[in-house]
Amino acid sequence: MTSSSTVLLGVTGGIAAYKSAELVRGFQKAGMDVRVMMTKAATRFVAPLTFETLSGHAVHVGDRLRADFAITHIEEGNAADIFVIAPATANTLAKMAGGLADNLLAATYLAYSGTVVIAPSMNTNMWHHAATQRNVSTLRDQGVFILEPGAGELACGVYGSGRMADPDSIVAEVKHRLQVERKTDLRGLRVAITAGGTREPIDAVRFIGNRSSGKMGAALARGAFDRGARVELIKAYVDLPAAPGVREVETPTAAAMYREVIGLLPDLDVLIMAAAVADYSVVMPTGGKIGKSLEDLSVSLCPTTDILCEVALKKRPDQFIVGFAAEYGMEGLARAREKLARKHLDMIVFNDISRQDIGFNSDYNEVFILTPSSEVKVERAQKETIAEVVLDHIARGIRTLRGEPAPAG
Ligand code: CTP
Repeated sequence: MTSSSTVLLGVTGGIAAYKSAELVRGFQKAGMDVRVMMTKAATRFVAPLTFETLSGHAVHVGDRLRADFAITHIEEGNAADIFVIAPATANTLAKMAGGLADNLLAATYLAYSGTVVIAPSMNTNMWHHAATQRNVSTLRDQGVFILEPGAGELACGVYGSGRMADPDSIVAEVKHRLQVERKTDLRGLRVAITAGGTREPIDAVRFIGNRSSGKMGAALARGAFDRGARVELIKAYVDLPAAPGVREVETPTAAAMYREVIGLLPDLDVLIMAAAVADYSVVMPTGGKIGKSLEDLSVSLCPTTDILCEVALKKRPDQFIVGFAAEYGMEGLARAREKLARKHLDMIVFNDISRQDIGFNSDYNEVFILTPSSEVKVERAQKETIAEVVLDHIARGIRTLRGEPAPAG
C-alpha cells in the first residue's frame, strides 16, 4: 500500500451507514484517499454532505442510471485501488450476485476490475436466508472478499448475526488487501483448518492439554482466505485475534473437534489438520473439583477418535486432506512419512519439536512438506511465510488431484 492509495467506498441503505462515516476517518488515518458513492436509499440514513465534508470530495449518488453520468463515475471508480462496500444490504448483495446494474453502485461493481471487499449488514433472518447465503457464496466465487457480519444486538431489537463488521477491522482488512500479492489459486474452494490444542477435562478446573498456540493454523487460515477460499477455522484455545473474513468455531475437546470436522466434511474441498489433538481423554471427568485429601489418585484415560483416520474412511476422492506431524527429532521424518500412508493423506507437514527456535509457541517454523511422491524442505521462516509455501503446494496438489490445469499467468 502506498500513502496515495484510493479507496472507493460504496454506502448502501442500512442503519449501519452511520458507521461508514467513521470508516472514512479510519481510511484517512491509514493514509488513504476516500471517494464515496451512495445508493439513494443510503442518503435516507446519512446525508451525502456528511461524506462530502469528511472525504473532501463530491459524493456520487445514483438510483437510476444516466449513461453519461454513469460512465464518468464508473471510470472514476476504476481509478480506485480498492472498492469497499460497507454496509452492503441484502438487496445490494443480490444485485451484485445477479449482475444487475440498475444503480450507479451496482453498475460500478460490474465494471470494476480490482479488489472488492464488502461488509454486509442486515437483519439476522435476512442474513441466514438461503437466498442471501447463495448470493454470498456466488460473490465469493467471483473473488469478492466478504467480511461476515458479527453477532450482537441489531437495530431491530433482536440478537443475532447481521451487525456490520466494526470499522477498525474493515480498515485493517483493506490495508492488508492492498499489501498482499493477489494470489487467487484457492478461489471458490471451501477450506477447513483446525488449530491450537485440545484440552481434555479431568475435573471442572483441570485438564490434560498441550503447548500448541495455534499460530500455524491461524496463519494458514488467513493465507487461504487471502487466496480467495472460503475458510473455517476450527480452533481449540487459540489466543489470537480473529482473522476478518474467516469463520471461526471453538472446539475445546478432541470430541468436539471431531464432531465439527465430520459435520463439515461433505462440503469441504480441503481439510488441514494443524491442531494438536489429544490422543487420550479422561474416561469419567469429575463435575466438581477433585480435592487433595486422596492419598493416591489415578486418572483413567481412553483413546480419542483419530479424526484424520475417520476422515480417510468418509472422504470423497476429490477432497484434499493435509495432516501435520509434530515429531521429536529428525528421525520423526520417517514416522511422518509412515503417518502419511497410514492416514491416507494427500500431504503431511512435518516439523521437529525438539528444536527450541521453531514450532510450539514460536513465531517461526521449519518444515518438510511430504506427499506420496515428493519431499520439500522449507527453511526456517516466519509461520506466515511457511503457511504461504504450504498453501502453494496445496493449491497445486488439489488441481493435480482433480486433473485441472494450472491457472494462466
Ligand atoms: N490427529 C487427529 N486426531 C487425533 C489426533 C491427531 O486427526 N485424535 C491429527 C493431527 O491433527 C495431526 C495428525 O493427526 O494432523 C498427526 O497427529 P499425531 O498426534 O502426531 O498423530 P498420531 O497418529 O496420533 O501419531 P502418534 O503415533 O505419533 O501419536
